[in-house]
Amino acid sequence: MGIVYGEKNRIFTLHTENTTYQMKVDSFGFLLHLYYGKTVEFGMDYLLTYYDRGFSGGPYDVSDDRTYSMDILPQEFPCQGIGDYRSPAFVVKNEDGSISCDLRYKSHEIKSGKYALPGLPAVYAAGGEAETLEILLEDPVSKVQAVLYYGVLPKGDIITRSVRIKNAGENRIYLEKAASACLDFVSGEYDFISFYGRHAMERNLQRTPIVHGVQTIGSRRGTSSHQYSPLMILAAKETTETNGSCYAMSFVYSGGFQGEAELDQCNQTRALLGLQEAMFSYPLDAGETFYAPEVILSYTDQGLNRLSQNLHSCIRRHICRGKYKEAVRPVLLNSWEASYFDFDGESICRLAKEAAEAGIEMLVMDDGWFGKRDDDNSGLGDWFVNEEKLGMSLGTMIERINGLGLKFGIWVEPEMINEDSELYRQHPDWAFAIPGRKPVRARNQLVLDFSRKEVVDDIYEQICKVLDQGKVEYLKWDMNRSISDVYSAAAKEQGKVLYDYVLGLYDFLERLMKRYPDMLIEGCSGGGGRFDAGMLYYTPQIWCSDNTDAVDRVKIQYGTSFGFPVSTMGSHVSAVPNHQTGRSVSLHTRGVVAMSGTFGYELDLGKLTEEEKREIRTQVAEFRKYAPLIQNGLYYRLSNPFRDAVGAWAFVSEDQKEVLLNAVMLENHGNMTVSYVKLQGLKENATYKEQSSGRSYTGAALMQAGIPIPVEQSEYLAYQMYFAEVE
Ligand code: GLA
Repeated sequence: MGIVYGEKNRIFTLHTENTTYQMKVDSFGFLLHLYYGKTVEFGMDYLLTYYDRGFSGGPYDVSDDRTYSMDILPQEFPCQGIGDYRSPAFVVKNEDGSISCDLRYKSHEIKSGKYALPGLPAVYAAGGEAETLEILLEDPVSKVQAVLYYGVLPKGDIITRSVRIKNAGENRIYLEKAASACLDFVSGEYDFISFYGRHAMERNLQRTPIVHGVQTIGSRRGTSSHQYSPLMILAAKETTETNGSCYAMSFVYSGGFQGEAELDQCNQTRALLGLQEAMFSYPLDAGETFYAPEVILSYTDQGLNRLSQNLHSCIRRHICRGKYKEAVRPVLLNSWEASYFDFDGESICRLAKEAAEAGIEMLVMDDGWFGKRDDDNSGLGDWFVNEEKLGMSLGTMIERINGLGLKFGIWVEPEMINEDSELYRQHPDWAFAIPGRKPVRARNQLVLDFSRKEVVDDIYEQICKVLDQGKVEYLKWDMNRSISDVYSAAAKEQGKVLYDYVLGLYDFLERLMKRYPDMLIEGCSGGGGRFDAGMLYYTPQIWCSDNTDAVDRVKIQYGTSFGFPVSTMGSHVSAVPNHQTGRSVSLHTRGVVAMSGTFGYELDLGKLTEEEKREIRTQVAEFRKYAPLIQNGLYYRLSNPFRDAVGAWAFVSEDQKEVLLNAVMLENHGNMTVSYVKLQGLKENATYKEQSSGRSYTGAALMQAGIPIPVEQSEYLAYQMYFAEVE
């Protein structure tokens, strides 16, 4: 049984294969957190201590007991207004302007299966794979109710959390903050691991001690953002990739978010993850409900790599959906870095012909095929094919491409509008802009108000009309600016617009998935600006970064791997010198790096030499050979590319019989020292033969001592070594 409730001690225990999560309803009806960590079969309420902490007040009903204070006790869903002065999970503004809420236990239900959230992405599971606990808390005065959801997926050590808020009172309330998950620790010293970045350099790892005060990460951009990933890890000081305690919190949401880590006056740690507080003030009238998006939690005592593997498996099997969720994705050629806006139908067909000759399976026509769109200053919002530019209909073009044996894919950016577009001229109020103010422009575009159904419907209709013109088997859904000037002409209250915008986005994507179940959708936001578990529910892959430089990609993909599997990372081989960095590295290195993702190309094959074309043919064939192992194997980070001279990682098959080791030399010096890479996850006593050298090693040798990476006189050389167990 994953979920157990003790009637006598009123303790809830959630068990996964290797972890236990425990909480208790105390005598005052508060839901106190007791424990989250490695499996224990014991009531952990002995951890609660009660001492008089001067200046930490107690709720009225504890009477004169000065040792009872919410300012000190570990909680599941701490509210503002009950004497807890740490950062709260929940803030409610009442009709009279007061900010207070006092949630006490009312009832609970344990259900088989995993709960779902209406209109929001969430972890799903087959019957028998998961259980749900719902705990109803209520404020006795305002009758605000919070139902805390816990989803337990024992295999893979996943616990999910979410909250449904209901205004069961009579007056309008405003939700000013609604974090989905809180983790309170009564003891322990932790590091906070987060992933910061910028456009074209996403998800750099940062590890800092949690010190007194509150450390906050987040996004106020209306999207999850390039600047911080909605992923937090708390790790014990001594935790490494292979050892030690660590906790993951991953937000299943694509809008603004806020993650906090706080060390309180008594050296207790609180971690919170949920919706961004800024610009959030969600009105709920009598009887209305609100769902806070889900947070995925996982714990392991086996280090960060294992924690990542738990998240990888959860995202691949319980977040991603559709035909491609666990399938190897088609190798594609994208037109963007090949020709940018400068193409016509003939040139696209020429690209497709070259692609077919190289063994590539799909041609993707990127930005520039619609409306008036020869640069990025106009056209967004006008989703009709510019046949004049293409010199042919879309249908004809797709037929010609299909005739070459290739699938066809297309780019869209549905959430955006240019002022120079027919749509804007007809519906200027559909773009976010505050009355009387000039909006912030970015890439010369404005954001459509997706909190309005008629706007979503219009764009949906337009795009379906395009998709129905031929066999479109892939769609790249882009989003190329941060949201600003949030004001919806249709909304009575503006504090709800950003959240409703995200619901509009999800509604659109859900409808697309239902209507085109065989179409692969790739997410994108100026590369990896909206790379989160929420988008992955609709788009099983996301363009990882606009930076296609293989050396930078080693770092970007390393950071991304902490929370997300390689099957979700859009990754392409592009031309050299690289268009973002000017760096030139070998085609082999570019291939090795792109293969640790969905794999494809983004360059003009026509400009390559015959020798390069031959190499690409071989590369595509190599990828096909390794793709099942890359897609289904366990992922191991074997170095830290921010620190080490080599970037190294491996895929190990679940039966531990096959290994693909990848290494990219990031540094080269005179009299260069040797990097030894230690493999992981092999069978100690098995013998593994490396394919290209024919040499054999035991698993123990490869794991304990490692393998030396060759020293050669060149820059950024890559090595791919395939080992198979010898029976
Ligand atoms: C964004 C994407 C790119 C490309 C361009 C097109 O920057 O990340 O891959 O599609 O838009 O405008």
